[in-house]
Amino acid sequence: MATNCCYILAFFLLFTNLSSFGKGDGNDIGGASYIFGDSLVDAGNNNYLPTLSKANINPNGIDFKPSGGNPTGRYTNGRTIGDIVGEELGQSHYAVPFLAPNSSGQALLYGINYASGGGGIMNATGRIFVNRLSMDIQIDYFNITRKQIDKMLGASKARDHIMKKSIFSITIGANDFLNNYLLPVLSIGARISQSPDGFIDDLINNLKGQLTRLYQLDARKFILGNVGPIGCIPYQKTINQLNENQCVELPNKLALQYNAKLKDLLAQLNENLPGAIFVHANVYDLVMEVITNYQKYGFTTASRACCGNGGQMAGIIPCGPTSSMCSDRDKHVFWDPYHPSEAANVIIAKQLLDGDTTYISPINLRQLRDRK
Ligand SMILES: *[C@@H]1O[C@H](CO)[C@@H](O)[C@H](O)[C@H]1NC(C)=O
Ligand SMILES: *[C@@H]1O[C@H](CO)[C@@H](O)[C@H](O)[C@H]1NC(C)=O
Ligand SMILES: *[C@@H]1O[C@H](CO)[C@@H](O)[C@H](O)[C@H]1NC(C)=O
Repeated sequence: MATNCCYILAFFLLFTNLSSFGKGDGNDIGGASYIFGDSLVDAGNNNYLPTLSKANINPNGIDFKPSGGNPTGRYTNGRTIGDIVGEELGQSHYAVPFLAPNSSGQALLYGINYASGGGGIMNATGRIFVNRLSMDIQIDYFNITRKQIDKMLGASKARDHIMKKSIFSITIGANDFLNNYLLPVLSIGARISQSPDGFIDDLINNLKGQLTRLYQLDARKFILGNVGPIGCIPYQKTINQLNENQCVELPNKLALQYNAKLKDLLAQLNENLPGAIFVHANVYDLVMEVITNYQKYGFTTASRACCGNGGQMAGIIPCGPTSSMCSDRDKHVFWDPYHPSEAANVIIAKQLLDGDTTYISPINLRQLRDRK
């Protein structure tokens, strides 16, 4: 009897010990996302910055269940693509914004979000918003996280966690055009002094340095989205007074030119950085497909913002408490003048997770997660 009881007690102790051990070393963690980028994936960093680019105002987040419909700093009505992908890959928590008070302890192992509305590849991008985290700073912050994980797990387990269980997702570049090169105020943008070719080469060179830094910090599984059809967002259509079915040529042309070079860069990095895989997400073609064939996907419009004001497409004034808001939010491709709705994000995320090489190559996100 006595031995039996102790046996059970010992077993119980072992079990609780193991499970708390598991919590400490990342063994029980399905995987983590470390998310870099701009407002498409910002989950609240800008809430903590003195900036003009803010999304923690109503009615943003109205369909985000974990907050009860309150704004969180996400620039959409519900979940971002990063949130949806994390859920689908079995991650137990959304990646916490780096600047949030709870980005510490265990949360570091579930993934951290460094993305910032207005941010870009170049330091100068988004200057019009006064403050934002550009890509270089986001990587400086990951360098801080990296050291914290070392401290928590020890160097060897930390490396394992970062190399094998972590996906590095990077959604950047749109602001380098929209809030830098294409800005009408020439003195703020780079256009006054640079040809598009020169500017795009600078973007690619800087991005190459940034991805290499992440690699030096042990990142191995990367996914990079290319720049979407930024000439088709309600803001661009409205200020250029286009018809519903037209898109502004120059922004799309620049995006395509950048995207071609991005694809080459990723192929080059796949060859030159041993053990790393860079997955290319063809967001441009994917979003263009949804915009062109919106009815097939259950939308009633791909040109009018659900929340916003100004012009035919509600495309000038960002979404806020005084904006008009549509009632059928899941029938709009665009939530606001710049950003897709949650309904569109779900369709995009699904392709990234399970799609074929039309939109995601050489492997999709589920394959990337399972890659040894
Ligand atoms: C961090 O805080 C946010 C906001 O309070 C909350 O929604 C989220 O669940 C927290 N995440 C973790 C991992 O603690
Ligand atoms: C941004 O600024 C930092 C230093 O302030 C510099 O090291 C870095 O090269 C700059 N990056 C870009 C993309 O301009
Ligand atoms: C990370 O930070 C350390 C200083 O704490 C620095 O020496 C190192 O160069 C940084 N790594 C990268 C890739 O930025």
